[in-house]
Amino acid sequence: MNGAAAEVSAWTTYRRLFGYLRPFKWIAAIAVLGMVVDAGALSLFARVIKPMVDKLFMLRDPVMIFWMPVIIIAIFLLRSLAVYVENYGTAYVGRGVVQAMREQVFGQYLKLPAAFYDAETSGHQIARITYTAEQVASACTDSLKVAIVDALTVVGMTVVMLLASPLLTLVLLIMIPSMALLVRAVSRRYRRISHGIQGSMGSVTNILEEVVAGHREVKVYGGQRYEDARFEAVTQRNRRLNLKVAATNGIATSMVQLVAAVALALIVYFATRFQGMTPGTFSSLMLAMGGMLPSLKRLTTVQANLQRGVAAAEDLFEVLDSAPEADRGTLRVPRVHGDIEFRKVTLEYGSDRGPALNGIDLHCDAGKVTALVGRSGSGKSSLVSLLPRFYEATSGEILLDGKPLGDYALDNLRAQIAWVGQNVVLFNDTIARNIAYGALEGAGEADIIAAAEAANAMEFIAPLPEGIHTMVGESGTLFSGGQRQRIAIARALLKNAPILILDEATSALDTQSEHLIREALMRLMRERTTLVIAHRLSTIEHADHIAVLDAGRVVEQGTHAELLARGGHYAALHRLQFHDAQRA
Ligand SMILES: Nc1ncnc2c1ncn2[C@@H]1O[C@H](COP(=O)(O)OP(=O)(O)OP(=O)(O)O)[C@@H](O)[C@H]1O
Ligand SMILES: [Mg+2]
Repeated sequence: MNGAAAEVSAWTTYRRLFGYLRPFKWIAAIAVLGMVVDAGALSLFARVIKPMVDKLFMLRDPVMIFWMPVIIIAIFLLRSLAVYVENYGTAYVGRGVVQAMREQVFGQYLKLPAAFYDAETSGHQIARITYTAEQVASACTDSLKVAIVDALTVVGMTVVMLLASPLLTLVLLIMIPSMALLVRAVSRRYRRISHGIQGSMGSVTNILEEVVAGHREVKVYGGQRYEDARFEAVTQRNRRLNLKVAATNGIATSMVQLVAAVALALIVYFATRFQGMTPGTFSSLMLAMGGMLPSLKRLTTVQANLQRGVAAAEDLFEVLDSAPEADRGTLRVPRVHGDIEFRKVTLEYGSDRGPALNGIDLHCDAGKVTALVGRSGSGKSSLVSLLPRFYEATSGEILLDGKPLGDYALDNLRAQIAWVGQNVVLFNDTIARNIAYGALEGAGEADIIAAAEAANAMEFIAPLPEGIHTMVGESGTLFSGGQRQRIAIARALLKNAPILILDEATSALDTQSEHLIREALMRLMRERTTLVIAHRLSTIEHADHIAVLDAGRVVEQGTHAELLARGGHYAALHRLQFHDAQRA
């Protein structure tokens, strides 16, 4: 991006950010009023120093001696109130902005296509909501606060100085170019660092997540050293970047102080040479100059902080602007018949990898069981993931009841599908709520139990002290793989959808449990179109239709008996498994 384009995009980002402040405009206005009073009170104090010193100490004016302490207290009482209003007001607005941003990004996460989740690590996706949103808020509020209060303070103090001695103040104008140069240098440096910090926070979160989720692998394979080193590398990077910020801040502060010292020296130098400079005027000048210092210092970094917020906001806006799942279909049906046809379907996940599916022609009759078998990586999961439209086919067509999948409204299409995936995901809630998840929320307890029974899950749920109201723990950690699978099957059964997809749904079950579930499934499969993927061929022997996939193509299809008779891939696979079973 060239400079001008960057300016334009920064400007549109600012405009968009201001949109988030709109709901809080009244509170923001009160906060700004607080800031004005805050800055004003400080300047006022610098101003009253002049009469104070002159009249109290030089003239010993009795009226002043009585009123001065009262005035001082009044000024600072007013300022305290203003500071409170300003701080609470900005915090209120800032929290509101964080909340709104988080909700929006989260809402967008729920709508983004599967490809979005493939493209980025989950750590970066999490950090966006935990960390990046905070950055935006602090830019919106803290930096704005600094910009307003400190700019006003500088202006106020300059007025005080002008009142005290216009000539001397003009002399001090020579400070301005050096201050401007300083601000420019600092903000350039900041901009470069802030993008890096954001990225490094994502990496920190990512490693953390992997280690927490994979603590068993880390232990067994002795990954501690490796993880330690990896974590050290990213946290060091984060530390270095933050230190760079601190160094920049530090240098800016020192430079401001140096420039200010020169200014003070100038005041002292000239004060003695000008006629009529009273001690009061001198004190007022010194105080105004000194009071300006912290503000000047903060102002050198405020633009940079705003930059950081803009960088963060751009990251969030990019996600908010990315296209959600395509949902242009309008067709709504209460319950599909379930006739599925794949026509020359290809799927490429990315152009740099070969196609995962390569010209699939397959017909799944309504109410029948179609089994997909094939080597690992042959494209079975990819094929079924096209049905709920997790991915869009790169070319070819998929028809459901004779109509293209895309014609159905997405939620209506998904309402027709029950799905047990290869990796069971349970939510940190009770078993009952996991079975009656999402749109099934209103399901009655009797139905939930019936589904659990059919999935052969009651066998382990019933003995639990709280039965189906037991918490499953985070990601279902409190249950075994097979138990989790049975809960997921119960969920699918409860949904009672016309299309049932079972991707290795019984792979973690023992033969006996599988047998029991198979009976329940068989009963259910009668009225619905089922796609079942299984490596264990005994699971799918009774399927109405079996398709053998290899390298993204259907290489054989037919019934179990037909395929055995053909003596091809399936027969070979079967021989192998049967042989193993014999030996076992
Ligand atoms: N989200 C994805 N992004 C990119 N490539 C993918 C993705 N999912 C799968 N693939 C690739 O597509 C090919 C088919 O994968 P798929 O998961 O469909 O195989 P599968 O037949 O289900 O294998 P398994 O029996 O091991 O589950 C593989 O080469 C895999 O690397
Ligand atoms: Mg798979």
